[in-house]
Amino acid sequence: MGHVKSLKCLICGSEYQEDEVEYTCPKCGNEGLLEVEYDYGTIKTEFTKEYLKNNKNYSMWRYLPLLPINDASKIGPLQVGFTPLYDVPIIRKDLGVRNLFIKDEGRNPTASLKDRASAVVVVKAQEVGLNDITCASTGNAASSLAGATASVGLKSYIFVPKNAPKAKLTQLLVFGATVFAVNGTYDEAFDLSISATKEFGWYNRNTGFNPYTVEGKKTVALEIAEQLNFDVPDYIFVSVGDGNIISGVYKGFFDLLNLGFIDRMPKLIAVQAEGCSPVVDAVNGDGIIRPVIPNTIADSISVGIPRSGIMAVKYIKESGGFGIKVSDLEILNAIKYLGSKSGIFAEPAGSTSFAGYLKALNSGSIRKDDKVVVIITGNGLKDVDSAMRAVKEPIYVDPTIEDVKNKLKETK
Ligand SMILES: Cc1ncc(COP(=O)(O)O)c(C=O)c1O
Ligand SMILES: [Zn+2]
Repeated sequence: MGHVKSLKCLICGSEYQEDEVEYTCPKCGNEGLLEVEYDYGTIKTEFTKEYLKNNKNYSMWRYLPLLPINDASKIGPLQVGFTPLYDVPIIRKDLGVRNLFIKDEGRNPTASLKDRASAVVVVKAQEVGLNDITCASTGNAASSLAGATASVGLKSYIFVPKNAPKAKLTQLLVFGATVFAVNGTYDEAFDLSISATKEFGWYNRNTGFNPYTVEGKKTVALEIAEQLNFDVPDYIFVSVGDGNIISGVYKGFFDLLNLGFIDRMPKLIAVQAEGCSPVVDAVNGDGIIRPVIPNTIADSISVGIPRSGIMAVKYIKESGGFGIKVSDLEILNAIKYLGSKSGIFAEPAGSTSFAGYLKALNSGSIRKDDKVVVIITGNGLKDVDSAMRAVKEPIYVDPTIEDVKNKLKETK
C-alpha cells in the first residue's frame, strides 16, 4: 500500500480518505482541487539516501514510496522519467553564466513531461477497476495518456481542440486512442470530457481535476534534486498553461523538504506567453486568476482557464517566485538559440521557459551566478511547423560539387 494520508481541499480544507472522493472536493466543486497528503513519518523509515543509492530503477518509479500507488503490479512498462539534466557548456559560455542546467523532458516516451502524470493515472484507474480513461488536452497530456493506455492494454478517449498540431494528433491515432477533435478551444474540450466522464462512467485524467496528475509530475523535481545531489537550485523556470506542472515541481521539493532531504525550497518562476498569461498576471498582481481568450503560437500553454491556477499561484508565491511573460517571437527565437547551442529541440511551450530565463537574466531579475534549472517540457518534433518559423530555409543545390562550392561562397 502507498503512504497517502488524505486528500485535502485547497479551498475549504476538508480532508478525505482516498476511497471517499474521486476528483475534486464534493463541497467546493471543480474549484476544490485536492492536495495529496502523505504520512511522511512512515516514508522516512523507507525512503532514505541509502535507499536511493541502492536503487537500480532509473525511471520515475525509483521514487515509489513517495507516490500514491496502492497496487504496484499495475505500473506500466514504458520508461518514464530519469531524463537528463544537462549543464549546457556552450550556452553557459555564451551567456557568461556558471550554474545553468537544462532538464530535457522531451526525452520521455511520448516526448513530453506529461508522461509522468499519465503513468500514475493509468495505475489509479486500474486500482478503481476502470479500463476506459478519458482526458481533454491541448495535445501532450492526451498523447501521453494514449501511449500509456496502449502499453497496458486499456482504452483512451481523447478530446483535443481540432487545431492541435498534427504530430500530436498523429501520436493519438497511432496509439489507438478514440480521438474527438473538438470544434472549439481546449477550455471547451475540458468541459466536454467531464460531461463524457459522467455520461459513460470513464475514468478522467484531466489536468488538475484529477488529483494524481500533480503527483506524477512532481517526480521531475525529485529527479532534479537527486541529480544535483540535493543542493537546491535558486530558481526553476517552468512554462505554464494550466499550472499543473509547476504545482508538481513545488510538490516534489515540498516532499523532500518534509523528509529532510533538502533545507529550503527553490523559487519557482512561471513563464507564460504574452497572449495568454492569466497565471503570471495573478502571481505578479493580486493573486486572482482572471480567464482570458488565449492568443499564442505555443499551443500547449494556450489555456484561457487554468485548471490548476489557484494551486499554482499559491505555490509560486509560497516559494518566493514570480512570473514572466514572453512574446511569441521570443519563444521562437528561444527554440533556435537552445537548439543551435545545445542540441536540445523544444516545442514552443517547451522553449517558453527558456525564453523567460533569458529575459530574467537580461533584465537583472536573476544574477549570473544564480543556480538555475530550466525545464524543457516537450520535444520540438511535436510541432515542426512552428519550429520552421524560427529558422532559415536550407540551401538548395543541384547535385554537383560545383554548385555546393558556389552556394557555400554565397553564404559567407
Ligand atoms: C510542452 C508543455 N509545456 C508546458 C505545459 C504546461 O503545463 P501546465 O498546463 O500544467 O501548466 C504543457 C501542458 O500541456 C506542455 O505540454
Ligand atoms: Zn472543499
